[in-house]
Amino acid sequence: MKFAVCSLAVVLYSSFADLALAGTYLLGDNVVGSRFLDAFSFQAIGDPTYGTVNYVNESTAVSKGLVAYTSNSFTLRADDTTRLPGNCPGRDSVRIRSKKTYTTHVAIFDITHMPTGCGTWPAVWENGDPWPSKIDIVEGVNSHGTNQVSIHTSGGCTMPSSRSMTGTAGSNNCEGITGCGVILQEQNSFGPAFNDAGGGWYAMERTNNFINVWFWARNGGSVPADVKYSGSNIDTGNWGTPSANFPNTDCNLATHFGANYVVINIDLCGTWAGNQTVYAASGCPSTCDSFVRGTPAAFQNAYFEFASMVIYE
Ligand SMILES: *[C@@H]1O[C@H](CO)[C@@H](O)[C@H](O)[C@H]1NC(C)=O
Ligand SMILES: *[C@@H]1O[C@H](CO)[C@@H](O)[C@H](O)[C@H]1NC(C)=O
Repeated sequence: MKFAVCSLAVVLYSSFADLALAGTYLLGDNVVGSRFLDAFSFQAIGDPTYGTVNYVNESTAVSKGLVAYTSNSFTLRADDTTRLPGNCPGRDSVRIRSKKTYTTHVAIFDITHMPTGCGTWPAVWENGDPWPSKIDIVEGVNSHGTNQVSIHTSGGCTMPSSRSMTGTAGSNNCEGITGCGVILQEQNSFGPAFNDAGGGWYAMERTNNFINVWFWARNGGSVPADVKYSGSNIDTGNWGTPSANFPNTDCNLATHFGANYVVINIDLCGTWAGNQTVYAASGCPSTCDSFVRGTPAAFQNAYFEFASMVIYE
């Protein structure tokens, strides 16, 4: 199962020991509740994607209630109370980045709510230096459609047209801003439908042979026990066909990806959500920028709630 997407040679040259161990990992970091504040730094930076957003630092996020936690939840949100004058850069929101970096690993995000609404562009992703070296795990805009998983690299990284995955590939050239995206088939993988289902789990496995992403809805029948209960070890070999698969057949993953940070952010408008063609096609009113500035109450559901982020290495 593990090598279904690789060439036959990989199977022939792998020892039985390699095969048995291929998908097994040990618990690294189990991040729950207030531990998110220890594991992540707030990035109060100008938005690289030109959104109508003002990423605040940790003390501002705490004092304005844009970050909150309980013993078993962690919430990040955009401001939903302020009408913005035209000279403000944008609506207060948050962008956090892990203090640690990871190379080959598995990251499991147990998400109970994701930001929704016109103008929102939520994302859970990993990136490193040099740009572009990025894995988008959860991403989409304006509550529209299903989740898109993408990888972005420098030149010389393409994906085969036929892959073992349940999602649907867009571009197969991973170079640059566009990257190679895979649209998930599950309607409840993104937006209001994700929240109505009680959320679910996203998992990303990165090896030098492939990058895989899985999605399981909260009450889906096939959630692996080791995903559900975050035990001391996992075996991705039992997880079934991934939603998105990026094999190394025409892409040297070991050289295109280095040490990656985990990033979680809630962008508003910007190059994707705020593209007027995309924004209007999502059924959203007026322009993204004016909607975000003038309609604070529309952002009451613009929040992420995480039950946990668990890293296995
Ligand atoms: C956080 O941001 C606020 C508002 O810009 C600023 O006044 C404050 O000094 C910042 N705090 C830190 C610790 O940087
Ligand atoms: C906006 O989105 C449309 C549709 O995806 C695309 O064709 C166009 O190039 C985008 N415009 C910009 C400025 O990125």
